[in-house]
Amino acid sequence: MDKIIEEARIVEQERILGQIFRLRLHSPKIAGAARPGQFVMMRVREGTDPLLRRPFSFSRIYAEKGDFEILYRVVGKGTRLMSGLLPGASASLVGPLGNGFELPAAGSAPLAFIAGGIGIAPLLELIERVMARQKGAEDLRLFYGARTAEELLPEDFVRMPGLRVHFSTDDGSFGYKGRITRMFEDVMAEGAFRPSGIYSCGPLAMQYNVAKWALANDTLAQLSLESLMACGIGACLGCALPASTPEDPGAERFVHVCKDGPIFSAGSIKWNKILSQQTVPPTWPSN
Ligand SMILES: Cc1cc2nc3c(=O)[nH]c(=O)nc-3n(C[C@H](O)[C@H](O)[C@H](O)COP(=O)(O)OP(=O)(O)OC[C@H]3O[C@@H](n4cnc5c(N)ncnc54)[C@H](O)[C@@H]3O)c2cc1C
Ligand code: FES
Repeated sequence: MDKIIEEARIVEQERILGQIFRLRLHSPKIAGAARPGQFVMMRVREGTDPLLRRPFSFSRIYAEKGDFEILYRVVGKGTRLMSGLLPGASASLVGPLGNGFELPAAGSAPLAFIAGGIGIAPLLELIERVMARQKGAEDLRLFYGARTAEELLPEDFVRMPGLRVHFSTDDGSFGYKGRITRMFEDVMAEGAFRPSGIYSCGPLAMQYNVAKWALANDTLAQLSLESLMACGIGACLGCALPASTPEDPGAERFVHVCKDGPIFSAGSIKWNKILSQQTVPPTWPSN
């Protein structure tokens, strides 16, 4: 599908907590074509400052109303300007971009969703769609972690009927004390829940741990990966990550997160190279 350039209208802007906001946009063409895991490049204000559009995932898609939502955290100039957009204002968008998550076949539960910080954003729409398809969600679990309770979205924001949610905070101020991937591994070690597939989004260091577990346990995992993006359409080559080539492990090959991703399987990335060279910033702000 060709990318769409559309002038969207801001419908709602809400501060959910701290620096985390929910933005609802009316953008019928993009909302009609969007799938969970894809993203838009958004111009956060008219003019050339900031020059570059910013990438944001679809956190909710309301195709029949022509709307979608972005859940975002203010981390710099672009997102700060974004948080000042009022209902009625407009914003230029390019999208939907990227490959999106591949939805599991009906009845393929149990499934695990793992979210670190604002990485919860693209998983919300995905979970909703998977639940609608599974018709009986007892085997779907969300593992959702942040640094502290103050940075964790309110429970009612992520709870859905039938979805079991495991919360963690690094400082133990809510839920399990420790990293989200540590909690996931602890739950796996208990043995009562074993996912046939994993969907995850969060900082690269978290994704590395998810990929490691998935590969060691022969479990399919779809990871939404981060990278700095200047163009979002494969033109600037700024979002490259080292790719693994199983048939030729020494080969130097790269994938572009914007065009080939942002969703990748656990085995398609050369994790050791990322970790050793830190070819990208360590995270898009996890919490
Ligand atoms: C495919 C994709 C989907 C995204 N979806 C969301 C989303 O749904 N919600 C959300 O809050 N954020 C999301 N992000 C991250 C978001 O694009 C950045 O936080 C935003 O562009 C920052 O813009 P800024 O001008 O406020 O910050 P800047 O002033 O540009 O940067 C502030 C800090 O954030 C870091 N940073 C900025 N962008 C990235 C990035 N892409 N990767 C790693 N570090 C970065 C910078 O290095 C710097 O340290 C997504 C990123 C990608 C690649
Ligand atoms: S952001 Fe330009 S090639 Fe990916």
